[in-house]
Amino acid sequence: MINFQSILASINEAASTENDRGKIADYIPELAKVNVNNFGIHLQDIHQNSFSAGNADERFSIQSISKVLSLSMALGQIGEKVWKRVDVEPSGDPFNHLSLLELENGIPRNPLINPGAIVIADILVSQLEYPKKDFLTFVRNIANDDTIDYDIDVAESEKRTGFRNFAAANLLKSYGNLDNEVEVVLDFYFHQCSLAMSCAQLTSTFFMFMNNGKCRRENIFLTISQVKRINAIMLTCGFYDEAGEFAFEVGLPGKSGVGGGIVALLPNKFCVATWSPGLNPKGNSKLGMLALEKLTTETELSIF
Ligand code: DON
Repeated sequence: MINFQSILASINEAASTENDRGKIADYIPELAKVNVNNFGIHLQDIHQNSFSAGNADERFSIQSISKVLSLSMALGQIGEKVWKRVDVEPSGDPFNHLSLLELENGIPRNPLINPGAIVIADILVSQLEYPKKDFLTFVRNIANDDTIDYDIDVAESEKRTGFRNFAAANLLKSYGNLDNEVEVVLDFYFHQCSLAMSCAQLTSTFFMFMNNGKCRRENIFLTISQVKRINAIMLTCGFYDEAGEFAFEVGLPGKSGVGGGIVALLPNKFCVATWSPGLNPKGNSKLGMLALEKLTTETELSIF
């Protein structure tokens, strides 16, 4: 029997002595206020046993991790029609690059890069009566946690400086792949990215991706086929131009955010979340990646 608690404790110990912790994202000014020395890790197994170390209960901005949740909701709303507007190929490009979008006539490579997530946001804005409220309710229901909320300061901060996302949305609009107004779609997108959660809350939210689409209360949110697709997209696209490296080092589907969070999972076994706000040059949490490499190496548990 694997002693997850002692492995997490040793990962936390190693992280606490690390001097080179990467660089905090400052292109969203509000994110730059976070202390780079934070480190948290939380693992929840399929039987809902939880293990944690470090600042696993402190909330942070989940940013791009939210793209998996908006995709899940969009699939529930319009099903396979999602794939008419966004592709499922890894981009090999940073999350905010726009060059491929122009080359490929406004169809984003996948739903986890920014232009793809903006198309998903557009779908939700069209489908939902009260988009921000309804999406928050969806996330709270999955997690069974009504304390989860947007961080309005982060959303406003990104709205003031999100010039590339405005460029992406305008480009999408010019190709006819954005039905709603740019400002309305981005207001929704900036709010979804501002969701604040702890590592512990992230593992409860992502529990359904290791549990065949069923949340911790066994309510069905996704079909088995949809979970297969979303996990495949996380594996191939979840870390942008570092997706290959993450699969190579860690061997799990997962998703990162510029707030320094990473969530990853082994189907039918466990879901794990890390938080360390310092990022590597590709925009993924530096210590989070190291921690997860250590976890799957020491436990010898990965999808491979
Ligand atoms: O759109 C942005 O740039 C941010 N709201 C999210 C980017 C992000 O988290 C990339 N992830 N590693």
